[in-house]
Amino acid sequence: MVRQRQKKKVMVVLGTRPEIIRLTPVVFEIKKRNNLVLQFIYTGQHYSMSLGQAIFDELGTPPPQDNLGIGPGTEVEQTAKIVLGMEALFMKYRPDVVVVWGDTNSSFGAAISAMKAKIPLAHLEAGCRSYDLRMSEEVNRRLIDHGSILLFPFTENSQQILQNERVMGSIYKVGSPLCDMFLTLKKKIRKPGILEELSLKDGEYILVTSHRAENVDNAETLGKIVDLLAELGTRLTVLFNVHPRTFKNLENFNLMSKLKKAKVKFIEPSRYLRSVDIVNLEVSSRMIITDSGGLQLEAFFAQKPCVVIRKSTEWVESVELGVSFLADPSKTGLVEKVLEILGRSDRIAKKFKTLVNPYGNGRGSKEIVDHLVDFLG
Ligand code: UD1
Repeated sequence: MVRQRQKKKVMVVLGTRPEIIRLTPVVFEIKKRNNLVLQFIYTGQHYSMSLGQAIFDELGTPPPQDNLGIGPGTEVEQTAKIVLGMEALFMKYRPDVVVVWGDTNSSFGAAISAMKAKIPLAHLEAGCRSYDLRMSEEVNRRLIDHGSILLFPFTENSQQILQNERVMGSIYKVGSPLCDMFLTLKKKIRKPGILEELSLKDGEYILVTSHRAENVDNAETLGKIVDLLAELGTRLTVLFNVHPRTFKNLENFNLMSKLKKAKVKFIEPSRYLRSVDIVNLEVSSRMIITDSGGLQLEAFFAQKPCVVIRKSTEWVESVELGVSFLADPSKTGLVEKVLEILGRSDRIAKKFKTLVNPYGNGRGSKEIVDHLVDFLG
């Protein structure tokens, strides 16, 4: 008699809104496989309804079986709670592999816990580096990479970085599932949709986001970003999608009144935007300004010029291809630089016709899960 092989348990851990969007195609792919069981855990790092539950509902992502409910706190507090919470869940569910994405405190906490519990760790979006250890994300991803058994970089550059650093795990370059999700959502857009609701005209506005601690926790830098938006607002419609951290700091640094006086439309964090609306806003914009790595990639998928308001970026490819531009918001000359890029935004957008996408192919989730299956045997 042939004994039926035991199904392997794949635990996916996440805790922030962008991770829900990016990991959903991977979760779907795991669920499709007969030989795998999905164990799905939410840490609760993002706890507002606008960032949490609604997104699961929209995307049809299966509800996580456990929520650690860690909520806000210092980074050490958040991490410690996740490490301990995950240990208990590892004992309860005994996963065969733990999957985390990127560089959040949720991924880091789950990774440390898995390493200590001797459970194989798989890291998606491995090999990203900004070479700035003041960024929590840089600390998190470096340590996760060096404790992972399976590493999934999304670009050749990230793959090379991992090889140069001599990480001990196996490296497999795959497409980013963010691309899979973007393509799925793009097909669901019904125009004008959100554009009508926000009184926006196709191609006639700049989409802006900023949430990185190094930008928005610094009064002077956040002030410069507000000045930039005010200046742009005199020329073109500016739509600022405000993150909770940014909202809090705009108030703390008394910048909210300045922003309200400027000709800037902004979406408060309490207002829930569906993922499909966000993709619609991306593909219909003239240009995107952001400090988010995810949005820099989505700007590429949407074929829009992107100003990355940071000192450096992990996604160097789009900068090298001449469609993304670094602009340090803490330096003088920010406004001039952005205006110059805006002035040639049409020409930049045309470049996409000849470019090959270095970040994904729409099959990333399948590639990742195939590798997991091979590993689990
Ligand atoms: C985190 C990640 C960052 C990721 C981002 C995506 C880390 C170190 N950073 O940054 O890499 O790009 O998520 O959004 O993990 N807040 C709320 N409601 C929420 C969540 C946050 O009001 O649901 C506010 C709180 O005041 C909180 C602050 O935002 O203290 C920062 O939240 P946190 O999760 O610590 O970091 P993010 O800036 O969201």
